[in-house]
Formats: sequence, C-alpha cells, structure tokens
Amino acid sequence: MKTIFEPFRIKSVEPLRVTTHEERNKLIAQAHYNTFNLRSADVLIDFLTDSGTSAMSTRQWAAMMLGDESYAGSPSFFRFEAAVQELMPFKHVIPTHQGRAAEKILFTICGGDGIIVPNNTHFDTTRANVEATGAEAVDLLREEGKDPELEAPFKGDIDLEQLESCLRRDGDRVPIVMLTVTNNSWGGQPVSMANIRATKALCDKYAKPLILDACRFAENAYFIKLREPGYENKSVKEIVQEMFSHADGMTMSAKKDAFANIGGWLALNDDEMATQARNILILTEGFPTYGGLAGRDLEAIAVGLEEVVDEDYLEYRIRSTEYLGKALIDMGVPILRPVGGHAIYVDARSMLPHIPVMEYPGQSLAVELYRVGGIRACEIGTVMFGRQPDGSEKPAAMDLVRMAIPRRVYTQSHIDYVIECFAELQQYKEQLRGLRITWESPALRHFTAKFEML
Ligand code: F0G
Repeated sequence: MKTIFEPFRIKSVEPLRVTTHEERNKLIAQAHYNTFNLRSADVLIDFLTDSGTSAMSTRQWAAMMLGDESYAGSPSFFRFEAAVQELMPFKHVIPTHQGRAAEKILFTICGGDGIIVPNNTHFDTTRANVEATGAEAVDLLREEGKDPELEAPFKGDIDLEQLESCLRRDGDRVPIVMLTVTNNSWGGQPVSMANIRATKALCDKYAKPLILDACRFAENAYFIKLREPGYENKSVKEIVQEMFSHADGMTMSAKKDAFANIGGWLALNDDEMATQARNILILTEGFPTYGGLAGRDLEAIAVGLEEVVDEDYLEYRIRSTEYLGKALIDMGVPILRPVGGHAIYVDARSMLPHIPVMEYPGQSLAVELYRVGGIRACEIGTVMFGRQPDGSEKPAAMDLVRMAIPRRVYTQSHIDYVIECFAELQQYKEQLRGLRITWESPALRHFTAKFEML
C-alpha cells in the first residue's frame, strides 16, 4: 500500500508554539488539570474536537468574498440552499448558527412532557435539547455497537427490534425517529444503508418521520462504499443522495462535514413543521434566509459541501484516522474498534487498570497526554457522566479519552509525533495517578471542574 498523503498543499500556515515539558506541567496545574481550561495557544496538537476546527480551502475563502450580507433574499442563501439540496433533496432548508440550534428548534416543535424520541444514540446536545422540553431521549443502539473490541462494519446501526417494540408500545408518544450518522458517542461508527432503509420502512409502517442527525454524513457514506456490498461502485455523492432519500428531514452541524467554522441547518419535507420551524427561527436565530449566519458563512458551507464528498479527500480522511488507530493498537494501547471516522477513542480504564474508576483514569490520561506532548484530548467517562441527578456519583459505562481529528489540519508528521508520545507514555503508564475533583458546577461539570492530582 502506498503512503497516504494529504490531497492538498499548504498555502497559508498557522505557527504552533512549542512548549517544554516543564512549562506544560505548570500550565496544566494552572488549568486545574482540566484540558478545557487550557489556552489553545499553549496546545501543540489540539484533538479536543473536530467541530469548527477544519481548515478551509482556497475556494472556500474566495467564496467568502462573494458573501452578500443582505438581511433578506441574499444570493448567498440561494447558493447554500442549492448546495444542500444537491445532496439532500429536502423541500425546506432552514439555516441555523450551529447544529444544536437546529435541534432546539426541532424539539421545540415536537418535544414536550410524555414524548419519547428514539435514536441509535443521541449526542449530548441532542439529548439535552430533547430533555429540556420534558421529553425522553431513548438510545436503541444494537448490542454489538457497545462492545469496544468487536470488529464489525456498522456498529452505529439502530436495533430494529427494539425500535419496533418502542413504536408498537409507545407509538402515540413518538413524534419522530432519529439516526445519528456517524454515531459520535460510541466511537464515530457508521450506520449501514440497509439499516437506514429498514428504519425508514418501520417509520412508514407507524407513520413517523425519520430525521437524520447528519453531522458526519460524508464519512458515513464513505464507510458504506468501503464496507457494504452493492455500494463499491457507486460514487459517494450517489450514496449520500440515497441516504437522504430515505429520510424526511435532517439536523446538521456544518462545523463537521461541511468544512465550515460555524453553521448548521434544519431540513424538512413537511410544510407545516417547516412553517413552525421558521417562526421559531425568526425569534431565536434570524430571518429564514440567513438564520444566525453571515452571508459569507453560507458561501463557505456551499463550497464545503462540494469538497467533502470528494473521494480523494475521504480516502485520506478515513485512512489517516485509521493510521493513528492502527499504530496505537500495534503498541498495545486499547482503543475502540474498528477505528471510526473522526476520532480515536482510547479505553483509559483498561489502559490504566491501577487507577480506580472513581479516580478518573480518563482524566489522568488526558492530563498526561498534555504533559508528555502538548496534546489536548477530552475525557468521555466518569467525569462527564458520573454525577447523577440525585447528587450521587457512579462510574460511567466506560472511561474513554477522545482524540478528535480536525479536518485537513494536521499532516502525517504531526500524527507520527502523537504516536511517539504514546510510545513514551506506554513506558511509564503504571506511574500515572488518579485525580480528585475539588470544585464542580451543578450541570455539565466536565467543562469547568477543577481537579487535584492524588
Ligand atoms: N450531533 C452530533 C452527532 C454532534 O457530534 C454534534 C457536535 C452536534 C450534534 C451538535 O452540533 O456543535 O454544531 O451544535 N459535536 C461536537 C463534538 C461538539 O465535539 O463532537 P453543534
């Protein structure tokens, strides 16, 4: 196999500040051992998120100069709308400032007390927006999707039996069914076309709209091309079009698979729902032809959507994530398998078995990644999910550290550097210690918690 190379060349650079080990020890202590409290200028390789962190192309920057900032009816909106509908042929495309704003509008329309929303797995903001209306967010991922070591092609698939029994039992309480492609909360795993099709058939049987949370739709489509029989000779664009032909609407964060630094949308076929959505949009985001975005942002998204279905890009994207994952597996670092689209999820609980779960092995690893190499990642485990509504604390299902890879930002030598840092860390991992929380906020504590090393 030939070397995977970045299918672009670099025209503009952003210098990185190289810090010493000693400086990083001080900086992470000043940040109270929480990577969210670090200043990004003090970070060398930033894997906190792949959201809004993409490098834009020359064509996107050029298109931004064409941004028309008219309040209503801007040509930038029509270019954006056409680019979305080229891939996702929904009747109504409603721009928002990011993904969660689309979720907020959707669940303002169809959430509420007693309502149930099924999904393969709700992302945190989706769950929070469902629950904020009094509704219940139900995750129906197939069992195989929850086995961290199982190698299976479509671990994002929803459990169709559970979905059908939910619809049979509680159908009158279910306004919509959702599928999150790819499944961010369980390793960036894809959903198969067969599963999307079968979910749509169930939705039709019970007369429910199917809405895709489509943040990473292009990565999902590329996995279908690679792994699902019958799709190997279809273009990614055709696969994307088919995915959305089975849906009645979508929520989207353009900060992921549209290469934009900000933006999102809600798309729907239903006229009545779209009218309600636009009314809420005007209250919260802005007029329906800009929805909280500048005209230039709409232009960047329009071009980004053309670029993200490019198969040379997607091959590089998926193979370079896999490159990091394979190297970690080879040196015995436990990660969620198979490698997903946008991130590597290290299983810190099994990597650091000497650290008790209630001393946060994921946080300990995240802190050490910064100390050893200036790498910023985030804990997805007991710090994030451990605090219960009744105030007690219990271990999360897993203690993971997510390294999300920004799109088109880091080169292979950056990734080789990360691999070297892991190799070094493997030598002394038994010496890593756990942490204790000294301060936390009542909700979403992981963002602001302060820790002390034990
Ligand atoms: N849905 C999924 C699957 C996501 O991953 C995200 C964001 C959203 C919805 C919300 O979109 O941030 O534009 O409001 N995920 C980011 C992450 C934050 O780091 O995984 P948003």
